[in-house]
Parts: sequence; structure tokens; C-alpha cells
Amino acid sequence: MHYFTSDPTAPDRPRDVEFTVGGVAYRLRTGAGVFSADRLDPGTGVLLRKAPLPVRSGVFLDLGSGYGPIACVLADRLPGATVYAVDVNARARELVARNAAAVGAAGRVIAAAPDDVPDDVVFDEIWSNPPIRIGKDELHDMLDRWLPRLGPDGTAWLVVARHLGGDSLHKWLAGRGWQVARHASQQGYRVLAVTRPSPADLLPVDRGDT
Ligand SMILES: C[S@@+](CC[C@H](N)C(=O)[O-])C[C@H]1O[C@@H](n2cnc3c(N)ncnc32)[C@H](O)[C@@H]1O
Repeated sequence: MHYFTSDPTAPDRPRDVEFTVGGVAYRLRTGAGVFSADRLDPGTGVLLRKAPLPVRSGVFLDLGSGYGPIACVLADRLPGATVYAVDVNARARELVARNAAAVGAAGRVIAAAPDDVPDDVVFDEIWSNPPIRIGKDELHDMLDRWLPRLGPDGTAWLVVARHLGGDSLHKWLAGRGWQVARHASQQGYRVLAVTRPSPADLLPVDRGDT
């Protein structure tokens, strides 16, 4: 059984994961059948400590939320924010809802299966420790589906282990027309900042021959 199957049936085995971000301590419930159930995933830790936590409220997406460490930190830091925590794994979604309530963000963290997010929602930021192990084609399909839903000035913050293809994902995203910057690199993880290309990048080149 993989953590990304949509309906894990293994016994629950609840347990807690504790971690600190920006001096704030979190204790979240995890369980069997979800990603990194015994500790905050080191990649997620790098993302939460290296990417700038937003300072303005808005609508955020935690893509592949697992039990919700990213969604809960964002919602906790920004009391006016709405965070869609999207995951294919039903148990992960149950845990997100529980954890959101535990950090006082029930109602502002929306645990949703991918098809349950209304089509007209636009995201100010997307945060993701994406599911590399689902395979390149599915990963690319997932990013092609969600990145276009970034607002015009939005940023997607992605963390990927270099040995799992962080650099080739960087190249693939750039090849799809996104502006990609390696924002940070730590413990073998890349934190990528993905934005829309600036209008100047889209202007036709003036060759001076008219
Ligand atoms: C690497 S884990 C990260 C989980 C969590 N954000 C964390 O940091 O602990 C990726 C997550 O993506 C989910 N996932 C897999 N395929 C997905 C898809 N097509 N759409 C949304 N989530 C997906 C998996 O179930 C898993 O929970």
C-alpha cells in the first residue's frame, strides 16, 4: 500500500508529530497510510523554513497536503487566510481537518479531493512537497492542472529532493513557460519559486528591421 492511494484501509495507528516553524511549536496527528507519519518530512521542513511565509492573507493551496503540516502552518500564521489542502488520500484529508481544528483554523483549511475544489478558485500562492513517487507523467499532469490556477502575481513554492529529480523538474517547469528560480538549497533539497513569466519576457523581440 502506498501513501498516495486514495482509500487506505490499513489500521489507523494514530500518533503525533511535533515540529517548530518560526519559533512556533506544532503538534499534529498522523497515522498509518499517510506520508511521513512518524516525523515532519525533512523536505517539508526545508520548505517551511526556507520559503518566505506569506505576510498577507489570501487563498492558498497546499498541493498534496498529507496530514497537513504546510496547510496548518499557513493557516496558523495568517488568521485571515483560506487554505485548500488537496490530497487524493482520504485518510490524509481526515487528518488535515482534525489538525486544522487543533490549530484553531477549522473552517479556514478546506480539506478537499482534487475534483472537489471549485473551478473558479484562484490561488495567491501554492505550496507543495509534491508526490514525486507517483511517476513523472502523473506529477507533470498534476502540476499542469494546478499551476495555471495561480493568480497573476502568485508564486508556487515547491520542494524536491535533488536525487529525486529536483533539477530536472526545474528544467521541465521552465520548458512549460514558467519562470523558475532556485530559491534555496539545503540538505539535498531544492526549494523552487515558480511564477508567471514577466510581460517583458513575453514581448516579441524588436529586431529593428521594420
Ligand atoms: C510528498 S507527500 C507530502 C505530504 C505533506 N504535504 C507533507 O509534507 O507531509 C505528497 C502527497 O501528495 C499526495 N498526492 C499524490 N497524488 C496526488 C494528486 N494527484 N493530487 C493531489 N495529491 C496527491 C499524496 O497522497 C501525498 O500525501
